Amino acid sequence: MQLTNRLQKIADSIEINERVADIGTDHGYLPIYLYSEGISREIIISDVNKGPMEIALKNIEIHIGKGHNIKSRIGNGLEVIGDNEADTVVIAGMGGLLIQEILSKDIEKSRAIKKLILQPRNAQDKLRKWLTENGFKIIDEHLAEEGRYICEIIVATPGKSQSENNEIYYEIPKILIHKNDPLLKEFIKRKIKTEKAILMNTMNEDSLKAKKQSEYSEKRIHILEEVLKDVSKNK
Ligand SMILES: C[S@@+](CC[C@H](N)C(=O)[O-])C[C@H]1O[C@@H](n2cnc3c(N)ncnc32)[C@H](O)[C@@H]1O
Repeated sequence: MQLTNRLQKIADSIEINERVADIGTDHGYLPIYLYSEGISREIIISDVNKGPMEIALKNIEIHIGKGHNIKSRIGNGLEVIGDNEADTVVIAGMGGLLIQEILSKDIEKSRAIKKLILQPRNAQDKLRKWLTENGFKIIDEHLAEEGRYICEIIVATPGKSQSENNEIYYEIPKILIHKNDPLLKEFIKRKIKTEKAILMNTMNEDSLKAKKQSEYSEKRIHILEEVLKDVSKNK
């Protein structure tokens, strides 16, 4: 099974023989890969919806066959896994706030998981901030290009972490800066481009709301350009 860059980066964050739970598995490609590559043979797949689970089970049958022990469970978030049933929990391809909601629903259970691999589709900064303020430590970060998106993958463990002195680092994590991630400059440039487009739309409008938005965008562009400058010094 050939994974997309995004799912491959997630798979690469899983060590051999880790017991994995894939929450919101949908197509099941990640567990199929982990199982068939012999990375993990103890896998739980779950989805809150029956339709995606049926697709996952069909894909598993096509790619692995019948003689496997991948456990499938229908349910909401972490309610499908028992205590100490999985070393690593993957929650990928969902909104950042939904991921936060899933983790906070049973915070003790979440904090008991050795490793979380999270791939929020949006509100990534909010999720990072929530993690650091709620007993998790972000230990690694990855960027992966998928279609027209640069996806963000967060690896966290239970533990204490320091709050960021500047909110921008919840959006552009220092780990990615220190690692000099090859996609980082493009990631920041796209943010600047988006912010400039917003500024163009609001700068000639008279309303107070538009004025506030323009000021906010100008400030953000300045901060993002400063971070880009710093990142460019890395080489
Ligand atoms: C966009 S798919 C992502 C599939 C796969 N994880 C990936 O990253 O490619 C999101 C899946 O999460 C499931 N989902 C949404 N909320 C959920 C929840 N609270 N608990 C479990 N699964 C959920 C949806 O039914 C859907 O199949």
